[in-house]
Amino acid sequence: MNGNTVINRPFPFSARQFYDDVVEGLSAPLKRLSSKYFYDARGDEIFRQIMQAPEYYLFRCEREILERQRAAITEVLFSDTAATDLVELGAGDGTKTFFLLEHLVYRKYAVVYRPIDISQHILHTLTANMQDRLPELRMDAVHAEYFDGLETVMLRPSQRVVVLFLGANIGNMAKEDAEAFCRHLRASLRPGDKVLIGFDLVKHPRIIQRAYDDRAGLTAAFNINLLHRINTELGADFNTDLFEHYCTYVPETGQCVSYLVSLEAHQVNFPDRTVQFDRDELIHMEISQKYRESEITDMASKTGFLPLRSFYDERRWFVDVVWEAV
Ligand SMILES: C[S@@+](CC[C@H](N)C(=O)[O-])C[C@H]1O[C@@H](n2cnc3c(N)ncnc32)[C@H](O)[C@@H]1O
Repeated sequence: MNGNTVINRPFPFSARQFYDDVVEGLSAPLKRLSSKYFYDARGDEIFRQIMQAPEYYLFRCEREILERQRAAITEVLFSDTAATDLVELGAGDGTKTFFLLEHLVYRKYAVVYRPIDISQHILHTLTANMQDRLPELRMDAVHAEYFDGLETVMLRPSQRVVVLFLGANIGNMAKEDAEAFCRHLRASLRPGDKVLIGFDLVKHPRIIQRAYDDRAGLTAAFNINLLHRINTELGADFNTDLFEHYCTYVPETGQCVSYLVSLEAHQVNFPDRTVQFDRDELIHMEISQKYRESEITDMASKTGFLPLRSFYDERRWFVDVVWEAV
């Protein structure tokens, strides 16, 4: 495989699966949609704008960590310059990862960067960016869901594997799902492989709540965009004016939850069915779980990892942890 090519794998999910998931979610007593479907080309673009929003501190915190502490992070992740597959799950546009990659290229580490993402569009953006800014980087992008992609990499790994899971993507799972995810991740790796995972930490509730309810309405547009996507790709007729974004943060659970609220009783038609909405009925869209440091350490030990080191931003709002598979 040449460097800097997007592997044209079949779509990571079929239109049929998208349809089945949407119908199942909208048939549940509390209607829900899976946040993994947020990322079509428009969703990718809105998310890139969210990362620049003044309220969305997560991006700036993690960028600070990766930019300022990349030498120390590299030392823990790569104890020598042996050949390594550097896999990134849900890589997005790689803006923050760039700092780490630049350091690795500059120091001549023998890495092949293998970003995995469900959005083919963002993989093209990422590949073009890296080609432009880091032409020496060896890179093979994989268009797939997290573990399908990791499986293809693990079929023929180089000497060592390092996995990045940044941006608090892990926060989009409930705690028990995040634990199952880490167990699965551990089972996919060999002892000695390492992971770098970004967790958003608990902090003043208002700071968290505002990050998911920005004044420019970007998060609202991001959520509403999934309804547009369902209309375009699945032939539904959502009237997006009849839905409003609402999000709430519960400090006791550390969960920020986003909903769309139906503003009036109405129905939405799909080619083979109709979905009824009451006034004020909710669609559960996404959770963003915040963590205490002790919960992160517990998660490592419960799932077969040894915590090696934690890297914080100056305000200690966010942490990137390095764990080793044991
Ligand atoms: C919130 S963005 C974060 C991107 C990047 N990690 C960062 O920190 O900037 C989440 C990314 O994960 C991808 N993603 C979400 N669910 C996925 C899944 N199940 N499998 C693969 N990629 C997924 C999305 O397409 C999107 O690019």
